[in-house]
Amino acid sequence: MSTAVLFHRYGTVDELYAADLPVPSPGPGEVVVRYEAIGVNPVDWKILRGDLADRLPLPFPAGPGVEAAGTVVAVGPDVRGHREGDAVIRHGRPGTYRVHEAVSTLPEADELTPMPDRFSFEQAAVLPVAAGTAYSALRQVGLAAGERLLVHGASGGVGLATVQLAFLLGAAEVIGTASARHHDLLRSLGAQPVEYGEGLDDRLAAFGTPDASVDCAGGPQPYATAVRLVGDPARRVTIVPESSDAEVPLVEHVPKELPATLRLIGDHPFELPVTGRYPLTEAAEALALSQKGGVGGKLVLLPGD
Ligand SMILES: NC(=O)c1ccc[n+]([C@@H]2O[C@H](COP(=O)([O-])OP(=O)(O)OC[C@H]3O[C@@H](n4cnc5c(N)ncnc54)[C@H](OP(=O)(O)O)[C@@H]3O)[C@@H](O)[C@H]2O)c1
Repeated sequence: MSTAVLFHRYGTVDELYAADLPVPSPGPGEVVVRYEAIGVNPVDWKILRGDLADRLPLPFPAGPGVEAAGTVVAVGPDVRGHREGDAVIRHGRPGTYRVHEAVSTLPEADELTPMPDRFSFEQAAVLPVAAGTAYSALRQVGLAAGERLLVHGASGGVGLATVQLAFLLGAAEVIGTASARHHDLLRSLGAQPVEYGEGLDDRLAAFGTPDASVDCAGGPQPYATAVRLVGDPARRVTIVPESSDAEVPLVEHVPKELPATLRLIGDHPFELPVTGRYPLTEAAEALALSQKGGVGGKLVLLPGD
């Protein structure tokens, strides 16, 4: 048997329950992956809450989770390029809060990417949403070598990835807004931390004008600051749909986002701090903390033995 964390109706984390299911068998074009680590993201509690129900209706019981990393344990018919024992990253379609999953290997499904040796399962599991979204956002604003970037919400999962990828793209300076308790972390990545909230404009005046702005927090202040400081709307982006419009466009994910992100990272130093680890069966606690905020990195679920 194999554990999966599911919900029968939209709501709070109280709707989550652990079910014992048979280990799936792989269908044609599928492999079964046994997850070693599962990434937790704000989109997980948004899906659970039903925020995406119009765009992404889910059959019940449904499962949260859009990323994980693990090992291929069974290979179905008509599968090419995947073998038992391969380490893989799963991304995209919701439902990764489980131990075993049958996953499509078809390129058009875009659910599976080979895991580079350099990453642990934990690090690999938290790459797709944070690093992938950061990559698309930076491409969208056309960040070029030698430029100055402003990142709102720089201490979150996507923000920390944006800071690191910006330097890999050659940014000369990255200014990142965050709570004071996360400033040392941002300094350790080479960014200039600035506290958000009242007085932000004065604090930002100490720096030169940014060439581009990536909002990883949402809300009125990042929006207003981006419009005021960055003249060209094409050089502003937000990853939060509710905070986007023609002035501050929403990020558009590039095709094959994760492989492109992994190519940029290559062998360069890149790490997303994991600040909380939870057994899979305690997913509700992890999601509640993600919703509360202030994580300062990533949370992971560990299926265990
Ligand atoms: N469109 C997409 O494809 C996409 C992809 C990924 C994420 N998202 C969305 O983007 C948001 C961030 O995701 P995440 O995973 O990075 O979340 P997260 O890890 O929870 O990070 C949230 C960040 O926002 C910061 N923050 C909170 N209030 C702020 C404010 N008023 N001004 C500036 N920063 C503020 C936090 O800073 P402190 O903790 O230092 O206070 C933290 O750095 C979520 O809403 C998520 O759903 C969208």
